[in-house]
Amino acid sequence: MAKAEAPEAELPWAGTRKTKKRVVKGGISRDDCTRANVEVLAPADVLDTLSSVPKVTTVIIDPWYNKGLGGEREDYDDWLAEVIQSACRVSRHVFVWGFPEILARQIVNIPNGFGLVSWLTWFYKNCPSVIRGWRSSQNACLHLSVKDAPTYPEHFLNDEQLERWQSGKMRFVPGPPSVLEAPLNIGFVGRDEQTGHPAQKPLSVIEPLLLMTTKEDDTVLDPMCGSGTTGEACLRLNRNGILCDISPEYLTMTRNRFAKHHIRHGR
Ligand SMILES: C[S@@+](CC[C@H](N)C(=O)[O-])C[C@H]1O[C@@H](n2cnc3c(N)ncnc32)[C@H](O)[C@@H]1O
Repeated sequence: MAKAEAPEAELPWAGTRKTKKRVVKGGISRDDCTRANVEVLAPADVLDTLSSVPKVTTVIIDPWYNKGLGGEREDYDDWLAEVIQSACRVSRHVFVWGFPEILARQIVNIPNGFGLVSWLTWFYKNCPSVIRGWRSSQNACLHLSVKDAPTYPEHFLNDEQLERWQSGKMRFVPGPPSVLEAPLNIGFVGRDEQTGHPAQKPLSVIEPLLLMTTKEDDTVLDPMCGSGTTGEACLRLNRNGILCDISPEYLTMTRNRFAKHHIRHGR
């Protein structure tokens, strides 16, 4: 089995972390990244994928935004509500990405049995917009879950904090902020991560979602995976992943992304 070659990027929320063979500041060492299995399915529509996969721990939904890239559809709100409903059938945690004005309309559609855990905001300053007026600098992400679905804020602690928490010396676990600040991967920014997908999310906004809702070896589904950012986050964090997209081109991009890092993955 080929050994995983994870990029050397650091996880910004953790302190110095000891790994099996060496110490990397806040990061996942190459040696840590060998267990997870990420399966890349054949191209399929999101609703077909959601009706055919087994139950998973967390689903990431990151559709086109109904403007610009990916075009517009008149039934977008109803379609997205159906996608969210279907995602809630296969998982206890569902994250839904979109512009705030789109997700605001889904707040009234949260499926029975699920609640809004948090409205997350991704804040980026480097959008090269040419639109006169306010320059876009935020995306929203709804965290929906069933009541009492486990969350793991302790995954964001550094070693010292973890020790204090484990020995009962910490009264509560300080959670990460609900605003994730990370630049768009454009131009020279995030060059190592860039795949050419026009709406690729940075790893640093996907990894916190997995850390908060999953343990090692849990399974994450991303049925609109684009360039496979969720898959790479899974491999870096030792979570299993199931990825799909409607576009054969983007699934090839995803497979190439994993191959580039010599990361093992499924079909
Ligand atoms: C915003 S991008 C996802 C980007 C991804 N999170 C990343 O970091 O690369 C949206 C993706 O949804 C896919 N998509 C759009 N409609 C779909 C559908 N009906 N079923 C499955 N995938 C779809 C597109 O091909 C596109 O790759």
